[in-house]
Amino acid sequence: MRTPLLELRGVSKELPSGGRTLRILDAIDLSIAAGEFAAILGPSGSGKSTLLGLMAGLDRPTRGEVLLEGEAIHRMTEDELALLRRRKVGFVFQSYQLLSNLTARENVLLPLELTGQAGAGARATELLAAVGLGERGHHYPSQLSGGEQQRVALARAFGTRPPLLLADEPTGNLDSATGASILDALVRLRSESGTTLVLVTHDPAVAALADRRVHLRDGRIERDETAS
Ligand SMILES: Nc1ncnc2c1ncn2[C@@H]1O[C@H](COP(=O)(O)OP(=O)(O)O)[C@@H](O)[C@H]1O
Ligand SMILES: [Mg+2]
Repeated sequence: MRTPLLELRGVSKELPSGGRTLRILDAIDLSIAAGEFAAILGPSGSGKSTLLGLMAGLDRPTRGEVLLEGEAIHRMTEDELALLRRRKVGFVFQSYQLLSNLTARENVLLPLELTGQAGAGARATELLAAVGLGERGHHYPSQLSGGEQQRVALARAFGTRPPLLLADEPTGNLDSATGASILDALVRLRSESGTTLVLVTHDPAVAALADRRVHLRDGRIERDETAS
């Protein structure tokens, strides 16, 4: 069997809370294969964002192991994690998280330049065009609508061709028509690039596009449906 792209083994996340321990994730075992598109579903507070943060190396488990391309990211130093995120993980957040003092194009360029990619300028141009913002590269985030900002965030996330793309309710702040167009762009970019995608969503129509639906409840995997 091939090594999974991402593997979580016995992952728990606990936080101290008023003298007690709050268990946010409880003994999660989950393997994501290279190229897979997995949707994470579950009620608010079930641990979806915490799970994505652990997959991205933005957070550490209390117990258990997180392996990305076979590397034990739960044991990495902060510097190693920062490098890993830059090279291997694209992240799309509900709140876009663009740098407000950079233009759309500069936001897309930054990770390309930080990773020393040849042809960064041409790649940024290509990506902005791919998300329908070829003419808007010189605009600052405050001059763009929410949907446009999220398109920039998509272009940024795919720029370095990361093996893993994580998206946490990327349409949560958008009206349904705009959200649908963002998801179209996300699904198209991912199928063109072959990137592994883990997407948190509340939308059953979006989840239906995924190869797999992982349902969380109270920090546990309640159901894991793989399309066969
Ligand atoms: N830093 C934190 N401090 C205290 N509680 C937290 C923290 N992060 C998450 N939680 C709690 O953990 C639970 C899961 O949170 P989260 O992963 O954000 O869920 P979801 O994304 O599914 O809504 C929630 O009850 C939330 O309040
Ligand atoms: Mg969340």
